[in-house]
Amino acid sequence: MNNKRFSIFASGNGSNAEVLARHALKNNYPLEFVLTDKKDAGVIDRMKALDIKTIVIERNHITKKEHENRIIEELSKNNISWIFLAGFMRILSPEFLENFYDPKGGINRVVNIHPSLLPSFPGRSGYKDAFDYGVKVSGVTVHFVDDGVDSGDIIAQSVFERKNNDEIEDFIRRGLEVEHKLYPIVMDQIMNDTYDLYKRIRR
Ligand code: GRF
Repeated sequence: MNNKRFSIFASGNGSNAEVLARHALKNNYPLEFVLTDKKDAGVIDRMKALDIKTIVIERNHITKKEHENRIIEELSKNNISWIFLAGFMRILSPEFLENFYDPKGGINRVVNIHPSLLPSFPGRSGYKDAFDYGVKVSGVTVHFVDDGVDSGDIIAQSVFERKNNDEIEDFIRRGLEVEHKLYPIVMDQIMNDTYDLYKRIRR
């Protein structure tokens, strides 16, 4: 039995969260719950349809620290050891991340997917920024989360082309397809210990 109990965090539509959740169900990976900070996030209905528990912890009228403490409380109650971020629109503090620090690997057991080829176009709008810049090729990045913005060690990347007559919507659609293929592959590597933390390429 796999002992890497994990949670997925999402703030929005939740297409990546759904792909990961379906993948976890299929492979018997211990997804304990999905967490969202938005009570009307699309991810909630997606999880309902899959019969997966969703916990909503909004940050109304509380400090970032209180918000993170509430999240930590839920995570420790459920012995969560890994987190997969899938469109979670909050920066996790160093104090939060410390709870997931793996001293042997030198990483936090928190993984994110970002819609650009990092280190290009970090931040909130990777697709739009890459598209507006006029890139001919773009891609997506799965990386460990560190104290910076989209700056943790890269686990995997996958590329796609921008076509000449692409509108931003076409570009994003193509990118999301690539995300949905790549993220489950990384999840397999982590859940099955086939990703060698200790041999990874460091910056
Ligand atoms: C994705 O593009 C992901 O890379 C980024 O946020 C977006 C979330 O989309 N971090 P969805 O909610 O998974 O559909």
